[in-house]
Amino acid sequence: MVIYNAKDYNDMSRKAANIISAQIIIKPNCVLGLATGSTPEGTYKQLVEWYKKGDLDFAQVKAVNLDEYKGLSKDNDQSYAYFMRKHLFDNVNIDINNTFIPNGLEADSKKECTRYNEVIKSLGGVDLQLLGIGGNGHIGFNEPGEAFEKETHCVKLTDDTIKANSRFFSSLDLVPKFAYSMGIKSIMQAKSILLVASGKSKAEALYKTIYGEIVPSVPASILQLHNNVTIVADDDALSIIKEKGLL
Ligand code: GLP
Repeated sequence: MVIYNAKDYNDMSRKAANIISAQIIIKPNCVLGLATGSTPEGTYKQLVEWYKKGDLDFAQVKAVNLDEYKGLSKDNDQSYAYFMRKHLFDNVNIDINNTFIPNGLEADSKKECTRYNEVIKSLGGVDLQLLGIGGNGHIGFNEPGEAFEKETHCVKLTDDTIKANSRFFSSLDLVPKFAYSMGIKSIMQAKSILLVASGKSKAEALYKTIYGEIVPSVPASILQLHNNVTIVADDDALSIIKEKGLL
């Protein structure tokens, strides 16, 4: 794992956007695995700025997202499909037909997960997978305790995650209880992985991810076994690691 220490959220966003830009420049028709949540918002903002300046071209890029709430339509403003259009897809020249997100409205979980696994395979796999991390160490929506060998599956969200994500909804009751998520196996098949983390609430999860045991109770710890992982985290997210003198 390569760890870059950013001084704050803006610096983290800029460094992460630089890594994604490099991927697009090296391979203009790359497949990007994308993530939602507040952490990558600044990264997307930076990419949009560089696109607008003429420094980046998304014409041939393909994008496949990690996850989607089950039960939300792509036009619901809390859906991850809506998030991606708002923060990235509508603001750059990516072909929307080259963007893929699980269909939250498909009630048949088995059917949707099989379809999504096929989508990822038909794209030839992911070149660079962007990841955020939950305070409990989840990646995508792979909650603590999930088997490492899963591909796309339907997840029952933990109370912690429902509570954490309720800040985007007008009430706790409106947060969906299930989601479709790429599994750990799908994530581990990406050729390279970029994990971004910001803030003290991620410090413990990040410490366990990098230096802890590789255990399903900390889903992100599996990343220790991937041979091309870059972590860009700010001072707050790295605070425990730094206190322990590990960086
Ligand atoms: C959600 C998403 C994850 C994301 C996590 C952390 O649960 N499914 O992909 O990494 O939240 O989000 P945030 O960056 O807002 O802290």
